[in-house]
Amino acid sequence: MDGRIGFVLLFCLIGLTCAEPVKFVDCGSASGKVSVVDISPCSSQPCQLHKGKASSVNVTFSSGVESKTSTAVVHGIIAGVPIPFAIPVGDGCKSGIQCPIQKQQTYHYQTTLPVKSEYPAIKLVVEWELRDDNKQDLFCIRFPVQIV
Ligand SMILES: *[C@@H]1O[C@H](CO)[C@@H](O)[C@H](O)[C@H]1NC(C)=O
Repeated sequence: MDGRIGFVLLFCLIGLTCAEPVKFVDCGSASGKVSVVDISPCSSQPCQLHKGKASSVNVTFSSGVESKTSTAVVHGIIAGVPIPFAIPVGDGCKSGIQCPIQKQQTYHYQTTLPVKSEYPAIKLVVEWELRDDNKQDLFCIRFPVQIV
């Protein structure tokens, strides 16, 4: 085990905030390529999202296109049915991305995912898209979460 992984693991085990790469599925990133997805806190996978709290999300991707805008669209997929999920800031250009987006450039999309206390304690799949000017996905990722 290399030192960095050991260090991250230790942080996670003692319950401090840690960001470990989340296993995700690419659901059609037509205009870009995702390299790393970090969710914090997420000490074990599927990530546990705590009711009444916000998790931070950090998606590292490279863009294959130029785009003036970027718009996030989030769905919770429950029993196969995608349900729109409201996020506080839908504008990717206000979420750590410096717009206009350039071709072949790497970006960190950073935002928060608040979990309302009235949400049911269930497992679901989060589908997160970031769309470019032409409504193509700069990224589209899916990852499982558990609301607790
Ligand atoms: C987001 O993730 C990237 C890649 O893991 C990392 O370099 C960057 O520092 C992270 N940003 C924050 C605010 O954690």
